[in-house]
Amino acid sequence: MTGIRELVGAGDAAVAGLLDAAFGPNRHGRTAYRIRLGMAWFTDLSFGAFDADGRLIGSLQSWPVALHEPDGTQAPLVMVGPVAVRPDAQRHGIGRALMDRLIETVDAHPGDPLVMIGDPEYYGRFWGFTAEATGGWTAPGPVERHRLLTRAAAQTALPATGMLGPRGAPFPLATEAQQTRQGA
Ligand SMILES: CC(C)(COP(=O)(O)OP(=O)(O)OC[C@H]1O[C@@H](n2cnc3c(N)ncnc32)[C@H](O)[C@@H]1OP(=O)(O)O)[C@@H](O)C(=O)NCCC(=O)NCCS
Repeated sequence: MTGIRELVGAGDAAVAGLLDAAFGPNRHGRTAYRIRLGMAWFTDLSFGAFDADGRLIGSLQSWPVALHEPDGTQAPLVMVGPVAVRPDAQRHGIGRALMDRLIETVDAHPGDPLVMIGDPEYYGRFWGFTAEATGGWTAPGPVERHRLLTRAAAQTALPATGMLGPRGAPFPLATEAQQTRQGA
């Protein structure tokens, strides 16, 4: 039986092994990694799926990031991902259970809007993520426009333009905005 618990305590090696299996060893070059560069994941918003023997078979991490607006202000966001399920355990509801736990947690204590790079067919269908707010956003690397998703409380206004990056960092990231347009 699979149990969902906080990811803390799973061990860095187990998490890294799972991510390598789900995404491949070249995963570190992905745009999502650049957006959260230097950040530490939120322990209360990151979850693991464990099998009956206590082995990690799924993980979901969340990170502090921000939309860096042209005037220098930063709109804080929670970046969700990677969501990863061990290949031999995929399509058994584990990814869904991990996301359900995250959404239950954030809805119980609403905070900063969520952002992620993922399939809208999956994250829109179950949890209401959309690309509607992100048409004017850029990222420090290529990203497919329709996969840059947000989920925010109805009353939360998201900025129309800006560049995603680590929270608290300055704004030299804009020099790489061109890559986003090329990858769109
Ligand atoms: C994407 C991933 C996290 C989904 O987890 P999972 O445990 O395999 O998926 P689930 O069993 O929870 O899927 C639930 C439903 O979503 C569907 N689904 C799963 N992945 C999907 C995708 N990428 N796009 C559309 N639908 C998807 C399933 O078919 C299932 O539908 P059903 O209930 O109608 O049969 C997992 O497959 C994975 O780790 N993939 C490789 C890494 C990755 O791409 N991660 C996402 C980017 S951060």
